[in-house]
Amino acid sequence: MKRTHTCNQLTAADAGKEVTLIGWVESVRDHGGILFVDLRDREGITQIVFHPECEKIYETAQKLKDESVIQVFGKVALRDADTKNESLATGEIEVVCSDMIVHNMCDTLPFPMQDDRADKVNEDLRLQYRYLDLRRPRNLALMRLRHKAATSIREYLNSQDFVEVETPILFKSTPEGAREFLVPSRLNPGMFYALNQSPQQYKQMLMVSGIERYYQMAKCFRDEDLRADRQPEFTQVDIELSFVEREDMYALIENMLKKVWKDVLGIDIPTPFKRMPYMEAMNRYGVDKPDTRFAIELCDFTDLFKNSQFKVFSAAANSEGGAVKAINAKGLSDITQGELKGLEDAAKALGAKGLAYIKAENGTWKSPILKFLSQAEQDALKEKLCIEDGDIVFFAAAEWERACSILGRIRLECGRLLQARGKITIPADQFNFLWVIEFPLMLFDEEQGRYVSAHHPFTSPVEEDIEYLDSDPLRVRGQHYDIVLNGTELGGGSIRIHQPELQEKVFRDVLKIPAEVVESRFGYMLKAFKFGAPPHGGIALGFDRLVSILANRQSIRDIIAFPKTQKGQDLMAQSPSPVTEKQLKDLFISVSIPQGKK
Ligand code: AMO
Ligand code: AMP
Repeated sequence: MKRTHTCNQLTAADAGKEVTLIGWVESVRDHGGILFVDLRDREGITQIVFHPECEKIYETAQKLKDESVIQVFGKVALRDADTKNESLATGEIEVVCSDMIVHNMCDTLPFPMQDDRADKVNEDLRLQYRYLDLRRPRNLALMRLRHKAATSIREYLNSQDFVEVETPILFKSTPEGAREFLVPSRLNPGMFYALNQSPQQYKQMLMVSGIERYYQMAKCFRDEDLRADRQPEFTQVDIELSFVEREDMYALIENMLKKVWKDVLGIDIPTPFKRMPYMEAMNRYGVDKPDTRFAIELCDFTDLFKNSQFKVFSAAANSEGGAVKAINAKGLSDITQGELKGLEDAAKALGAKGLAYIKAENGTWKSPILKFLSQAEQDALKEKLCIEDGDIVFFAAAEWERACSILGRIRLECGRLLQARGKITIPADQFNFLWVIEFPLMLFDEEQGRYVSAHHPFTSPVEEDIEYLDSDPLRVRGQHYDIVLNGTELGGGSIRIHQPELQEKVFRDVLKIPAEVVESRFGYMLKAFKFGAPPHGGIALGFDRLVSILANRQSIRDIIAFPKTQKGQDLMAQSPSPVTEKQLKDLFISVSIPQGKK
């Protein structure tokens, strides 16, 4: 090896030893006649001293640039008492250099590498030089944390007799999910693979194969619009078991996460986790992944406003499936015009027609809609929402789900504004795990004019609801569960359908997928279910999201070695990129890009 020690190893006990260190130049300090170099490797930092007497290397050392790679030969010396550095593990010693090899002299850096300065650098520039950004000790630590979490998960699942099986990345195109990435097949002209969105169908086939307990740290690909918690390729902790019920899944995942939190953060998280039906989550928090770390909740006023003078509210209250909901953002009456505009825009982006509000200040209410509200309505609002001076109440009148989502979003924004004002705290080190359960099996998609699966079409209905599959699909609950943490959907899964007749019925009668499409996309699956399919169920956890929460980072890009931008680009390797005519020809593909898209 090229080193005798790491840069975090030497102590006073090593004084006098001849050592060899290798690493990156963190900094060079010229103290007039004597030169100090902080040498850094992934473990830590050691101070190297260059004396002018050692002419040959002294001159080279003077020319060293930050982040150059050098190998240093020298003797460990104790530092004087007044030059010891308590904050370094190696702060008692320094290495007096007698010889040095410069393995790589670093060019001028594109951005400063110190955390406080680098964090302010434009993310695109850092992603272009991702290898440099990753080299920062803080970011290397994130990679190690990710590794630790993955190790902990594997240890746990191995200890529970799971078998890790790799499944294909090149799968086939199937409807009913996110948009897929397609891969042309050269050997089969005009045909395409789809990159797998998740190993869902393969893992179910593994159950038919008798694997019984499967897991995989699985790469998944989805051509979605990207956000802070979404990447086009991401990793799932993918799990499937035979002969299980929902309770078994809850216990398994709770114990796994308990170990991960203990191993990675040293924290004991209490189990079992709370459970909340989907309807309750929507009605109280306006979202199916509630952040329960702060108390603001939605209130329903649909009945109150049925006879209201304010037509916007009475119309929603009296329409089929309509609702009027409100939240009290306690203490936020000092909201600025700009912030209020921001909330309105957020509400409108979710399809709100407006965002009515009431501000309570100096003993009076101010509101564009106050003139429409009767005294009885005002009294009821005041009582149910506990409105006091300093509060602001927001309303949403719309179809139930939309009204919930709008205020769910407003709730989160208000939480942020209140936290920024120091009026509430949403602690990053509080972990409110929550199972969201009793989802409907189906949702009605207005755009498509048909039912769609709330989770995916393989989720089993709750036994006693199966009879309503034809007559009232929306009433059927699915055996689906989501694991939610502090407002993030960490994972989701379900007990699956394993009876071919029921699976076919869901495809054909409920989802109304044409018979020939069912046959071409899922025919093999329906067939497999006729050859001894065990009852089974599973779950997938978004591993990137899990790590970003463990690391307390806002974006999953921070904990992925080579992430893509919001536009799906790898700025370092410059991907995606054009290919040659020849390559396209070999694949029997011609490209035509409409004018505005170039
Ligand atoms: P689902 O689609 O809910 O379920 O995905 C499971 C979890 O994967 C994470 N996730 C993502 N993470 C980062 N970027 C993305 N684009 C992204 N999309 C999803 C989320 C999510 O909760 N096969 C089923 C699971 C099952 O039923 O067993 C599935 O994929 O944390
Ligand atoms: P209008 O009478 O349309 O001017 O609306 C009066 C107030 O109600 C304005 O502050 C609007 O932003 C708000 N508003 C309008 N429609 C809705 C709605 N569907 N839900 C909540 N607030 C609304």
